[in-house]
Amino acid sequence: MFSGRLVQDAALIQAQFDLVLGALDDVDVTRAMAYATQGGKRLRGFLVLESARLHGMDETCAIWPATGIEALHAYSLVHDDLPCMDDDDLRRGRPTVHKQWNDGIAVLAGDALQSLAFELCTRPEVGSAGVRAELALTLARASGAQGMVLGQALDIAAESAEQPLTLPEITHLQAGKTGALIEWSACAGAVLSEADPTPLRQYARALGLAFQIADDILDVEGDSEKAGKRLQKDAQAGKATFVSLLGLDAAKARAAELVEQACAALDAYGPRAETLKDAARFVIARES
Ligand code: IPE
Ligand code: IPE
Ligand code: MG
Ligand code: MG
Ligand code: MG
Repeated sequence: MFSGRLVQDAALIQAQFDLVLGALDDVDVTRAMAYATQGGKRLRGFLVLESARLHGMDETCAIWPATGIEALHAYSLVHDDLPCMDDDDLRRGRPTVHKQWNDGIAVLAGDALQSLAFELCTRPEVGSAGVRAELALTLARASGAQGMVLGQALDIAAESAEQPLTLPEITHLQAGKTGALIEWSACAGAVLSEADPTPLRQYARALGLAFQIADDILDVEGDSEKAGKRLQKDAQAGKATFVSLLGLDAAKARAAELVEQACAALDAYGPRAETLKDAARFVIARES
């Protein structure tokens, strides 16, 4: 049920990207944008679509913010892979954008994907002016200096820090780096239908942390071929991660505990929330 849904939603999002990006001038920067948005699990877009379904809404309006958050996520990856950040050559099984084109095109494609994310969230098709403004306001907070960018900056700073980060510091870093966009995605369905996002927020906070612990575990014991990106980078960079701080077994146990918490947060929705619960289970079992 869940894996089929994830694949279906990924195809819907791809079709939306084809529509939106296909209307732009065919130049290097737009080709790089399309390239950067291809592939990936589309977990964040799925969370938007599925949290909307949980509130009885279909895809016609939710597809816009679902595609928007995947554009924003793609921008964060393009910039994360740049030589001045993680300096990675491989992403989603293909050369990174700056390898395929150059650094300038990668910076600009990232910039334009970020702008596109806000455009897609505020399109008239999405809903009332109030709903669209709330999506944009919360996305700005989740992606900027209180959210993803803060987490990325703390992550970079940690590489040259004298002392490895402590567990509370890593948890704070993660809440920005990975947690904020995942939380925005899971809450989007409630925002779209003007419902209370509290249960989804609780679900997403536990899910986001489990997701980052799983990313750190994958970095240690994953298969680079399956993951589509270079692994064993964290230890090489001397970075403290959930795995280096807790050890592999305790990190796995913590991730499993968080998945239980994420699922429990949705109990009030009954069987309708089963797909989102499966998504939480998937997050720690994934190989990519
Ligand atoms: C990878 O995110 C980067 C992190 C935030 C840890 P995903 O694992 O969701 O990457 P894709 O979108 O599936 O490629
Ligand atoms: C990237 O984190 C997080 C964002 C792009 C916001 P990582 O640097 O750990 O992600 P990977 O391992 O390159 O996918
Ligand atoms: Mg990074
Ligand atoms: Mg990286
Ligand atoms: Mg990583």
